[in-house]
Amino acid sequence: MGKDKVVLAYSGGLDTSVAIKWLEEKYNLDVIAVTVDVGQIEELDKIRERGLKIGAKDFYLIDAKEEFAQDFILKALKANALYEGKYPLVSSLSRPLIAKHLVKVAEKVKASFVAHGCTGKGNDQVRFEVSIVALNPELKIIAPIREWKMSRQEAIEYAQKHDIPVEVTKKSPYSVDENLWGRTIECGILEDPWLEPPEEAFKLTVAPEQASEKPKYLEIAFEKGKPVALNGKNLPLIKIINQVNKIAGESGFGRVDMIENRLVGIKSREVYEVPGALSLITAHCDLEDLTLERELLHFKSRMEIKYAELIYYGLWYSPLKEALDAFFEKTQESVSGTVKLKYYKGSCQVVGRKSEKALYDYSLATYEKREDLFSHDSAKGFIELFGLPIKTWAKKKADG
Ligand code: ARG
Repeated sequence: MGKDKVVLAYSGGLDTSVAIKWLEEKYNLDVIAVTVDVGQIEELDKIRERGLKIGAKDFYLIDAKEEFAQDFILKALKANALYEGKYPLVSSLSRPLIAKHLVKVAEKVKASFVAHGCTGKGNDQVRFEVSIVALNPELKIIAPIREWKMSRQEAIEYAQKHDIPVEVTKKSPYSVDENLWGRTIECGILEDPWLEPPEEAFKLTVAPEQASEKPKYLEIAFEKGKPVALNGKNLPLIKIINQVNKIAGESGFGRVDMIENRLVGIKSREVYEVPGALSLITAHCDLEDLTLERELLHFKSRMEIKYAELIYYGLWYSPLKEALDAFFEKTQESVSGTVKLKYYKGSCQVVGRKSEKALYDYSLATYEKREDLFSHDSAKGFIELFGLPIKTWAKKKADG
């Protein structure tokens, strides 16, 4: 019988490159490297070459961009998902998808182990491991970086000793994760929450003060909650996300600087570039304001908070998450129409919206006497009964 195998989530960076050798040495396993493309702009060909050269027995490059957009981003958008009201879950959304492909490959090549390159301080380790066990509870998980406790310098030395190409060891001051839904930036100088992030940390957005003096407009059309067209032109979802990222980013919109509560108990300072995600969520929310009945709208917004938490906590594959998906899907039946966004030097404002499904009724809302159909007389009785409990309470109080 041959050696057992481990399927490693491989990014091509220093840590996962070192992990290829380390897994072989420490656990005597054949390493199968898997890179899942979720829209990170990197040289994917080079990653394959590097992985194989270091000693991976096989390499899989999986283009999961379409799946990421349709099955992950779109669900999050329908739920306007923002962790702590600010973070559109960039990394949190990609982990369950990467996990899904790791498990698929592991089953295909009959590997008993799956490995990921997360540290012991973050949320990503939780998301990978909980997703993997949810999809295949038999698989065993190894987290080399959490286990080996090497400093960055030691990892570089290990790389040099084992002939691992050192171009990957060039010291970047930040830890970055990137995909279709945005970019996350951590570490380095950003660990001091008082210091303003330096301009070099950003890639998808220009500084608001550098953006054009001319406002830019964007019309986003939705069908049942899904973005389908930009400025009147029908486009596939991935194209829409990419284009909105570009236009909003050039307008200096989409930077988030926040203190975030990690699942593992740490408060951390996080910097995000999410021009497309925040634009689409802003537009989508506004269209819901126009098309959803009040009680549904209010109830949905409470579920959105829970949903974002579940995704952040790594519970993508869980019964509550699935049930909430069914709820959100139902709510989107009437969410069709167009929203007009205006970008100006770092701001993004909704300045217009229209829909055939609009519940906005001009004859009810207008203050123009001639067209007004609202029953002013009914207001009196309504307020009497609505305020009755308060009146009763106030009377009692006055009586002592
Ligand atoms: N704080 C974010 C999250 O927990 C971003 C994590 C980024 N991950 C990374 N490996 N750099 O989702």
